Amino acid sequence: MIKASNLTKKFKDFFAVDHIDIFVPKGQIFGFLGPNGAGKTTTIRMLTGTLKPTEGDIEILGLDLKKNEIEIKRRIGVVPEEPRLYSHLKGFEYLEFVMDIYNTNNKATRDRIDELCNAFGVDYLEKLISDMSHGMKQKLMLISVLMRKPEVIFLDEPTVGLDAKSAKILKELLKKYSESGTTIFLTTHILEIAEKMCDVIAIINRGKIIAQGTMEELKKLTGSKDKSLEDLFLELTAQEEDIKHIVESL
Ligand SMILES: Nc1ncnc2c1ncn2[C@@H]1O[C@H](COP(=O)(O)OP(=O)(O)O)[C@@H](O)[C@H]1O
Ligand SMILES: [Mg+2]
Repeated sequence: MIKASNLTKKFKDFFAVDHIDIFVPKGQIFGFLGPNGAGKTTTIRMLTGTLKPTEGDIEILGLDLKKNEIEIKRRIGVVPEEPRLYSHLKGFEYLEFVMDIYNTNNKATRDRIDELCNAFGVDYLEKLISDMSHGMKQKLMLISVLMRKPEVIFLDEPTVGLDAKSAKILKELLKKYSESGTTIFLTTHILEIAEKMCDVIAIINRGKIIAQGTMEELKKLTGSKDKSLEDLFLELTAQEEDIKHIVESL
């Protein structure tokens, strides 16, 4: 469902994403884990057609992104890091706008909106988007994507800004969707999210994928039994020594 080879993004002389390969089969929840600035958002933007790669090829749904951008965008869903919504619209107006764009203004979609609103406790569709908090906007954005039941869903740091209950509901929902064949690509800098939610995790640091596998496979990489995935993550992203120095100097 998602395939990228040699994917690279250079900003001037800086490699934000440095020759990475990604392969995500149907129905998998793929977690892209890395510290701030690792290249996660840049990767997601390239995979979803909002940023042109410097180098590399991308196939989504088996289609070449360069040649089938519109069809791919019609069939995928993207929840960006920052919900960018039209602030002068009310919540329900925004959802209607999205349904009209995707030509899915039908009973099935409207029923799904009701279900999703119930699940996330969204009872503020009458409000102007400009009067919503960050978390409220994020839930509206999530509903606008999930209501379409896209075949592939990309989420950039989806639980940031959500309250604990909404985050838990989102986790359960994504699991349910993946079980029915939806493919999910999500980024996170939070180890626990990757650990709890994802079938396969790729760890990215400074634009490069430095480890990849199932939880079991990654745990084996830690070598000793007492080492947690957190230790491995910090070791691989070379933050362990930094943290020691920082704490000692405080
Ligand atoms: N448009 C841009 N111009 C220059 N540098 C950028 C741009 N977008 C991202 N970067 C840089 O690329 C690196 C990766 O950023 P990003 O993909 O947003 O990281 P992450 O999402 O993993 O936190 C960072 O060093 C960031 O400053
Ligand atoms: Mg990011």
